[in-house]
Amino acid sequence: MSEHGHGHGGGHGHGHGHGHGHGHGHGHGHADSVDQAEVLDLDAELLATHTADVIDRLPVTTPAQIVDLGAGTGAGTFALLARYPESHLTAVDSSVEHLQRLRAKAGERGVSDRVHTVLADLDADWPDLGTPDLIWASASLHHMANPDHTLSQLHEVLAPNGVLAVVELAGMPQFFPDQAPDGHDERLPHRGADWGPKLAEAGFTVEDERTITVHIERSAAVERYARIVLGRQLAPEALEAALNRDDLALRTERTVWTARK
Ligand SMILES: C[S@@+](CC[C@H](N)C(=O)[O-])C[C@H]1O[C@@H](n2cnc3c(N)ncnc32)[C@H](O)[C@@H]1O
Repeated sequence: MSEHGHGHGGGHGHGHGHGHGHGHGHGHGHADSVDQAEVLDLDAELLATHTADVIDRLPVTTPAQIVDLGAGTGAGTFALLARYPESHLTAVDSSVEHLQRLRAKAGERGVSDRVHTVLADLDADWPDLGTPDLIWASASLHHMANPDHTLSQLHEVLAPNGVLAVVELAGMPQFFPDQAPDGHDERLPHRGADWGPKLAEAGFTVEDERTITVHIERSAAVERYARIVLGRQLAPEALEAALNRDDLALRTERTVWTARK
C-alpha cells in the first residue's frame, strides 16, 4: 500500500506534493521527495505484516532473480529478500533519492550483495532487467503512462512460467470511519484500475486475485503517518483536533493479483 499523494496541491483532499517527477509536469523539490521517502518508509513499517503475508502466498519457491518494479525505498525489496534468502533482486525506480535510501538499508541489513539498483524511467527507456522468475510491482503500475505497454514488456522479460505479482490500492488511506472515500485523481487515471483484464490482455494467466482490508490501530507510526498526510489537507488547528480523535486508525485496502506467464 503506498498511495502517496501525487502533487495535486490542495483542492480535493490529498494535496501532498508527491509528484513522481515524470509525465505529469509537476516536479518536486528535495524536501518533497524526502517527505515522500518518509511516507514510503512509514508505509513499509505499518504494513510489514500484510506485505509478508502476501509474499508468503506467492506461488514461487526459489526464484533465482527477482525484479522489484518501482521499488521505492524498499518496502517489498527487503520482505522479498527475507522470504527468498537465495535470491538476487533488481530494484528499479526513477527516483535517485529512493534508490539511495534503499541501498543504505541494504547495507544496514547486510544484503547489499543481493540487491542491485537500476535508475530508470520505465515510461522512457526500458532497462535491462535480466530474465526474472518473479516480478513484484507494488503501487507502481498505476504511475506508468501506459501500463498496458509496461505489462507487455514485463511479460516479455519474465522467465518461462515466471510470476508477476501486482499489488495496488483503491486510493489514499483513510484515517477516520466518517472520512469521504478518496476521489479520482485525473493525474493518475490508472489508479484503482481492474488489473485482471489488463494482465490477461498482456498474455498472463491470472491465478489469483484477492483484496485485503487493512485496519491498523493508533500507534506512534500511525500518528506520524496521519500527521504527514492530513497535514497537507488540514489547517494546523484542524490537524491537531483530528490527531486527538480517539477513532484515529489507518484504514486501507490492497488488492493483489498473481499472474503467470
Ligand atoms: C507509491 S511508490 C511505491 C513504492 C514501493 N513499491 C512500495 O510498495 O512501497 C511508487 C514508486 O514508483 C516509482 N515510479 C513512478 N513512476 C515511475 C517510472 N516511470 N519509472 C520508474 N519508477 C517509477 C516512484 O519513484 C515510487 O518510488
